[in-house]
Amino acid sequence: MEPKHGDRPIVVDETPGKKAYCQCGLSEKLPYCDGAHARHNTGLAPLVLEIMEPGKRAVCQCHCSNEKPWCDGSHNRK
Ligand code: FES
Repeated sequence: MEPKHGDRPIVVDETPGKKAYCQCGLSEKLPYCDGAHARHNTGLAPLVLEIMEPGKRAVCQCHCSNEKPWCDGSHNRK
């Protein structure tokens, strides 16, 4: 199954609270997990974080960032 995203980050206007960021690329609600990783038996799990401060965040979609779930510009170096 092909990921539903490209290599570019998805920019979100994030709000405080617990968030689950998709790591399998199959979610219909990218960049958030919708349970697709389990439905498709990927063996992957979302990256769960507690967001403390609201603000714009660039969420990595190329899976190469060293600062997941955030983009670190790695998609430009592939
Ligand atoms: S749907 Fe992708 S990690 Fe959950």
